[in-house]
Amino acid sequence: MSDLRDNGNNEDFDKQVITNNHLSYLVENAGEGIIGIAKDGTILSWNLFAEKIFGYSKAEAIGKNIDIIVPPDKMDEKQRLLDKVIADNEIVKRFETERIKKDGEKVIINATISPIKNRAGQIVGTSEIYRALTEEEFMRKRITQFEKLISMGKLAAEIAHQVNSPLGAVMGRIQLLLKNIDKFDKKVFTKNLEQMLGSCDHIRTTIGSLLDYTRRIVTKEPLYINEVIDDSLKMMSHRLMIKRVTLHKTFSETLPPILGISGELIHVFVNIISNAIDAMENGGELKVVTDLIKASPSINQDLARVSISDNGHGICAANVSKVFTPFFTTKDVGKGTGLGLSVVKRIVKMHKGDVEVISKDKEGTKFIFTFPVLKDNEKTD
Ligand SMILES: Nc1ncnc2c1ncn2[C@@H]1O[C@H](COP(=O)(O)OP(=O)(O)OP(=O)(O)O)[C@@H](O)[C@H]1O
Ligand SMILES: [Mg+2]
Repeated sequence: MSDLRDNGNNEDFDKQVITNNHLSYLVENAGEGIIGIAKDGTILSWNLFAEKIFGYSKAEAIGKNIDIIVPPDKMDEKQRLLDKVIADNEIVKRFETERIKKDGEKVIINATISPIKNRAGQIVGTSEIYRALTEEEFMRKRITQFEKLISMGKLAAEIAHQVNSPLGAVMGRIQLLLKNIDKFDKKVFTKNLEQMLGSCDHIRTTIGSLLDYTRRIVTKEPLYINEVIDDSLKMMSHRLMIKRVTLHKTFSETLPPILGISGELIHVFVNIISNAIDAMENGGELKVVTDLIKASPSINQDLARVSISDNGHGICAANVSKVFTPFFTTKDVGKGTGLGLSVVKRIVKMHKGDVEVISKDKEGTKFIFTFPVLKDNEKTD
């Protein structure tokens, strides 16, 4: 707030001035532009800071219509705000918009508009408090808006990516059934339909969990990682078969549960298996191993480890460090978005786990995951 003193150093005098003229002094010297406006828009009062923000002196502003500071493209918005205040008796708080200064330059302001009432309680005008945004605040706002747009774009791409894999599985099965409609017996038909239903259900939970995620109401539950991997493999079974990939599973049967969200973890493994299949163009071998790493001086708790390896074309040394970067892809346009592994990383981190990749060009790739196992006394969150 500006200096309220009347020069001099007489503190008693200063205090008296403030109490005697309390409100008008405060308003006149406030660090924000405060303007009183009649119902028809005529400016009735205009404090010092309003002069500073808009460039009109008190003498120039009082008696004029408030429209002198409203840019033409903001007239409708101004009317809507006034209707809210005057017709609906509401206070508009910290509304960000543009106004125009005497020299024609635009200024971004933050306005709070309240109704002024007479003794009978009727609204006779409005009081408007304006704060001009500093360049820095303005830039920060712009940047956060831009970041929001980017993350919305990323989220949209992520949803598309997560829905595409199970959708691809359903389409593959439909194509298979259509091709062999006369050959399949009822049993095979039923099995395929059941698997399609499973994929559709997965799409539904994906969308549900993404929505839950944005509302932050996702709850983790104890689950067995072997079962999650089996569900993921089931979803990919058709693609594994048609791409002539042989599966080798070595599961530890004594793994304690981990705390997690099954739908999210299925994405992780579906993404990894899908990449492995893509890397084995002429068929190959997919090995999935689970085991327990016991706590030791260097590891402070028991971990469930999942290793998924393929003998596909591998990743060249220069690219290994880039694979988790969003939008990094070596696939042709339309074949990969490069989002799969960044989603994998996000989900693994959300489960307090870790993922690393070991790969040799032309020899194959191995992804190793570790997740903390649930301790007996651990509560679910
Ligand atoms: N098992 C693998 N073998 C060889 N390269 C792999 C393997 N997994 C991932 N990569 C490499 O990492 C890149 C990034 O993978 P990521 O899953 O993030 O995206 P993508 O598969 O290219 O696209 P999308 O997942 O959107 O279909 C791939 O383009 C590929 O170059
Ligand atoms: Mg991928």
